[in-house]
Parts: sequence; structure tokens; C-alpha cells
Amino acid sequence: MGDTPKYDDEDPFDWLVFCPSCGAYTELGPDGKPTCNHGYEHEPASSPAGHREHRIRIETAADHLDLIPTVAGWHWAEWGRVDPKGSVESWVEALMTKTNRDRVPATWIAMFDDLPVGSVSLVEHDMPDRPELAAMSPWLAGLYVLPTHRRLGIATQFVTACESEALRMGIARVYLYSSTARPLYERLRWERLADDFYEGESITIMAKDLNSAKLSGTATA
Ligand SMILES: CC(C)(COP(=O)(O)OP(=O)(O)OC[C@H]1O[C@@H](n2cnc3c(N)ncnc32)[C@H](O)[C@@H]1OP(=O)(O)O)[C@@H](O)C(=O)NCCC(=O)NCCS
Repeated sequence: MGDTPKYDDEDPFDWLVFCPSCGAYTELGPDGKPTCNHGYEHEPASSPAGHREHRIRIETAADHLDLIPTVAGWHWAEWGRVDPKGSVESWVEALMTKTNRDRVPATWIAMFDDLPVGSVSLVEHDMPDRPELAAMSPWLAGLYVLPTHRRLGIATQFVTACESEALRMGIARVYLYSSTARPLYERLRWERLADDFYEGESITIMAKDLNSAKLSGTATA
């Protein structure tokens, strides 16, 4: 088990916004708009400070195996209720098997100043108990961003990175299901396949063709 990451009390995100055009965090000007002038919508900063720029790095979990207990702990807290027979230990063990570098199943971690702030995985299947969906693979799964770091574009970066990595692995079509984040995926040009009910929730199954579609990174509309 790795050391638990330490987070500063001061939240740097209260005066930085992520600009998808720059692909980076940018300071807010006195008018409350990003100083890069790309005009991306955001909420006003509460405490603007001196110039400082941060870039979220999306890195393979293969290089951060010591962080798997931390990441699996987030997942367990968020989704553990769907696995009454499981435990945080079993989720650590399961996530450890999804840490390939160049093939599915693989996981990526968002690092901010060397602290992990989110994760996403590509897995063979995210609805394995649905035999009628067995031919659909792989799936984007486990998209998670720490509550303190949300609405900064990190999930958007994750989806973009996942699409690029999948394409690099020779994958042409990726699937996912979501109960809450459908607007996020729609904005990134994922296609709705079906509405369903799964693990006690209404969900939408979605897909994206990576060869024919522009990758999400270019989408800001
Ligand atoms: C869903 C989740 C991953 C989103 O993470 P996130 O990093 O906040 O996502 P993003 O910042 O990329 O986008 C979220 C929204 O914030 C908006 N946003 C992004 N940066 C922003 C900024 N600087 N200012 C204001 N809004 C911003 C985006 O437009 C997006 O809006 P949309 O929902 O209309 O598409 C996160 O809320 C989470 O981990 N939830 C719990 C787990 C979960 O539900 N996972 C999804 C499983 S499918």
C-alpha cells in the first residue's frame, strides 16, 4: 500500500480555470474572465492571486501502482454500494489488474502538482452480466474526479485521453454507460444507444466511433 497523498488546505482551483482551447489552467482577469481570452464559460473566482499556471497531467496507472489503493478507495466510496459482497481491499485488488500500459484493461490517473485527483479506465466490459451486450467492447469506466477538483475540465481531459489511447491501441469503437454524466459525453459527441435500468439506476448506454469521429479534444461547443 502506498502513502496517502497529502492535499494542501488552500485550494488552488479557486482562482484558476481550465480552458479547453489552451488545454491548460489559466488565471482569471479582473473582469472574472480567463486571461487567455478564449471566452470559455466558468464560474467567478473567489480569490484571484498572482500569476501561476498549472497543467493537469493524465498519466498511466502503470507508472503509479502505489496510488492504486488511493484511487480504489475513491471508487469504493462512490460505487461500493453496488457490490455488497465486496470490500475496499477487493476493489484495490481488482483495480490492480487494470493497469496495463498498452492494452485493455488500462487505467489513467490525473495528477495535479504530483497529487492524484481523478481516474478513468478502459475495460473489456462494464456490464459483464449482460450477455446480450457481450460483443460491445471495450468500455470507458470508472471516470471519477475528486469533489474538490470538479468542473475544471478534468473529466473532459480524461475522456479525450481515453479516446486517443484507445485509438493508439487500434480500437475503433468505445462504449460506456452513465447514470449522471450523459450531458458531458454528449458534449463530447458520444452517441446515445439505449436507455436502460442497471444496478438500481436509470442509465444511458453510449458509444463513440473513434475512426470516423473527430476526437473530443477539439469539441468545446
Ligand atoms: C462526472 C464527473 C467525472 C465530472 O468531472 P469534472 O472534472 O467535474 O467534469 P468536467 O469539468 O470536465 O465537466 C463537467 C461540467 O463542468 C463544466 N465545466 C468544466 N470546466 C468548467 C469551468 N472552469 N467552469 C465552469 N464549468 C466548467 C463542463 O462544461 C461540464 O458541464 P456539462 O456537464 O454540461 O458537460 C465528476 O462529477 C465525478 O467524478 N462524479 C462522481 C462519479 C461519476 O458520476 N462519474 C461518472 C460516471 S459515468
